[in-house]
Amino acid sequence: MPKTQEMEKIKNIAVAFVVFGATGDLSRKKIFPSFFELAKSGLLPQNIRIIGAARSKLSKEEFTDIIREHVQISNEEDWKKFALLVDYIPCDVEKNEGLQSISQKLDGFEKEATICPQRIFYMAVSPHIYQQAFENIGTNNLHLGCTSHNKKSRIVVEKPFGYDFESAQALQKTLEKFFEEEQIFRIDHFLAKQTVQNIFAFRFGNEIFEPIWNRNYVDNIQITLAEYPGIGKRGPFYDKVGALGDVVQNHLLQLLTLVTMEKPNFFDQTSIRERKLEILNNLKKYTQKEVETNTVLGQYEGYLTEENIPKDSKTETFAALKLFIENERWAGVPIYIRTGKRLMGNVTSIIISFKESGHKIFEELWDKPIPNHITIQIQPTEGIGIRIVAKKPGFASELEPIDLEYCYKAEKGAPNAYERLLIDIMVGDRTLFLGQIGPSWKFIDPIRNAWDAGMPKLVTYEPGSWGPKEAEELIKRDGREWLAPLLTICKI
Ligand code: BG6
Repeated sequence: MPKTQEMEKIKNIAVAFVVFGATGDLSRKKIFPSFFELAKSGLLPQNIRIIGAARSKLSKEEFTDIIREHVQISNEEDWKKFALLVDYIPCDVEKNEGLQSISQKLDGFEKEATICPQRIFYMAVSPHIYQQAFENIGTNNLHLGCTSHNKKSRIVVEKPFGYDFESAQALQKTLEKFFEEEQIFRIDHFLAKQTVQNIFAFRFGNEIFEPIWNRNYVDNIQITLAEYPGIGKRGPFYDKVGALGDVVQNHLLQLLTLVTMEKPNFFDQTSIRERKLEILNNLKKYTQKEVETNTVLGQYEGYLTEENIPKDSKTETFAALKLFIENERWAGVPIYIRTGKRLMGNVTSIIISFKESGHKIFEELWDKPIPNHITIQIQPTEGIGIRIVAKKPGFASELEPIDLEYCYKAEKGAPNAYERLLIDIMVGDRTLFLGQIGPSWKFIDPIRNAWDAGMPKLVTYEPGSWGPKEAEELIKRDGREWLAPLLTICKI
């Protein structure tokens, strides 16, 4: 459940929520269905208007019909009530068309409601138009908030924020022309997943892990985000960013920071951001030669015939990286990251493998000692598991590996990541949102530059596999293997 104070607070605030890119994939599949779930659970403000804005010339009814196809309706009354809160305005935020209509609509709502609602602008548009969109929002004075009070608008920005360090800085500059930092909500929805939040509780709410959470005990860390589906209809977006910009620079680096950062002084936004920043700044920056030996990029066979993909596209749909954090805690511990589309299954996990120094007394009971592992799993089910060795039940003195598991069963009412984030945006809690994005690009840029220069070469892989053989070789060279999905926990 969201924090109880937030639940109380949410009912009594007034919100005017504009979603740009309202007919796109993200809006249809995540944002509007999450709004609907919140509405069903009574977790929307009593005073809210949600305005969809996109280029298509649709009526309000045509728009709500599109949304309807993507929500779970069990009671028609719920839907009818929700649809009354939703409006639609045709608008091209890149070309500066329709923004005045949005402004008028908001003014009208404020007059009618005789209050000053919190204005929120959610950028669910293609990231390549951000620069122009921010300018247009600003020049139309939408950043100012409602005219009667000095309640500043909020802007919500999806990843990727920029395509490299330079473009991220340029975007930040444009945003800063109009918005103060406290008005900006940069989303990485992974941070709002239940198990990801649990990393904090697990690491810093228990005493027993901290002493072993370092290079003296940890052999390696593996982070996998493997997806069964391909790119679907997101070709134009995906082909511009590739796996590196779509998930490595953001989701995977965020997971990495959470699992490796030092304990923050306080459980608040500033302390957590500082700690994450230390990790990002300490990531070893690779030379071109090092990128060639420590990374693999792949493209699934058939990608070039997907909708809206150039026939000669060199975009990677798979990436594997071996990286290092240059600080006292983690020096020398390899961190393996792997992600890809059209792989054999959906698996997202972080696996911490501990060193195995040998157990002389059991030498006759096992051929090869089994190291301990901690698995923090987000897909296919959520949970945390600790792999230990135990004696098999029975007369024989045999040992076997077993998993102690805590499986996160979706409690009724537990919000999904987007529901949680929408609530936080409305009440103005920025704890789960990102700070400035520069440091992660400083790590990613040399990799992208080397890849663009053909180092290493893009390889293809068979859909339904676990990716190119080069990714297996990357880890085998170190005498290790990819542990996901081998160590899947919380099996249904
Ligand atoms: C999105 C990426 O941010 O995260 C997608 O753009 C990816 O390509 C998705 O599939 C994974 O997140 P989730 O929450 O659907 O597992």
